[in-house]
Amino acid sequence: MKKILVTGSCGFIFSNFMRKVMREKTPYTFVSVDKVIAPYNLYNVGLNRDHAFYMGDIADEAFINNVFLLEKPDIVIHGAAESFVDASIQSAGPFIHSNVVGTQVMVDMALRHGVERFVYVSTDEVYGQLGKDEPSWTEETPINPRNPYSASKAAGELIVRAAGETHGLQYTITRCCNNYGPGQPPRNLVPRAIKSILADEPVPIHGSGKYIREWLYVDDHCTAILAILEKSPYNEIYNIGSGISCSNLDMVQKIGTCLNKTPKIEFMKDRLGQDFRYSVEFSKTQKLGWKIAHTFDAGIEKCVKWYVDNGWFLQSTGM
Ligand SMILES: NC(=O)c1ccc[n+]([C@@H]2O[C@H](COP(=O)([O-])OP(=O)(O)OC[C@H]3O[C@@H](n4cnc5c(N)ncnc54)[C@H](O)[C@@H]3O)[C@@H](O)[C@H]2O)c1
Repeated sequence: MKKILVTGSCGFIFSNFMRKVMREKTPYTFVSVDKVIAPYNLYNVGLNRDHAFYMGDIADEAFINNVFLLEKPDIVIHGAAESFVDASIQSAGPFIHSNVVGTQVMVDMALRHGVERFVYVSTDEVYGQLGKDEPSWTEETPINPRNPYSASKAAGELIVRAAGETHGLQYTITRCCNNYGPGQPPRNLVPRAIKSILADEPVPIHGSGKYIREWLYVDDHCTAILAILEKSPYNEIYNIGSGISCSNLDMVQKIGTCLNKTPKIEFMKDRLGQDFRYSVEFSKTQKLGWKIAHTFDAGIEKCVKWYVDNGWFLQSTGM
């Protein structure tokens, strides 16, 4: 069995990833790293005897070197990152530390210990922004990040690609659209809306709420990563999308419908450098045989139900 080292396993996407892959029969064993044991996702990791979890900083070379020495992973899925755009606008330093320096350390250690594939989990935000009627981004669209978060993710991509060209690192880069699903902290739009609507409080929304995002249920991102890992040639980039786009305001209305309530909205000062629209063309990933399992309606229903059934989660995590 091949061993996969996952970074960022206490975050939103990779705690869902770990839970999903551990419950299913896969030809892999897993080991994971995160710098925190986030209280909201603690229950997802460390509960499985086949899974070793290491708490530490990916930018700490000695720590990561020891994880590689002890665990000898065959594959790396590098998902750890500072990920909250608003925080990157307040202070970019932690984003450079984790997303740039941390990615360089992960790449260096993957090269030193000879892993067979390095999957770098990037984001569609590296493309920048689209106008209302512009065509969706393809993998050939030049990257043009517009905020410190997306710039740091793009820098990570360049580090991975340079290691491929210079040292022969066998890599894959994924660029997924916005995810929604269980276990996301309420600083993000979907859980924030659920929390506010349930409490009969106004949902805070940036600017006019007209910004358009493409939305994918988190489990479908996880299955796409596995499909890409198993079926793609080396040194390629894959967009992961859903084709389901809506404004932030429409998303909040949809959540209100699921909860049988009319949301109140509080328009907040706009985010600096806000991107107007994201949309990816993702037929390259579909050609690998990956299919989306959740329609928008089914995904949102499932997501809202999870937060309603797990009310403790919204209460235990700050905004
Ligand atoms: N959320 C989305 O919609 C989305 C979409 C596309 C791509 N992505 C990418 O997917 C990945 C996961 O995103 P997420 O939404 O789960 O983010 P998240 O913030 O919930 O999780 C990221 C995890 O990385 C960990 N981390 C950060 N810096 C670290 C460091 N220096 N050392 C060790 N661990 C560190 C954090 O503790 C956290 O648990 C990120 O790389 C992000 O850029 C996210």
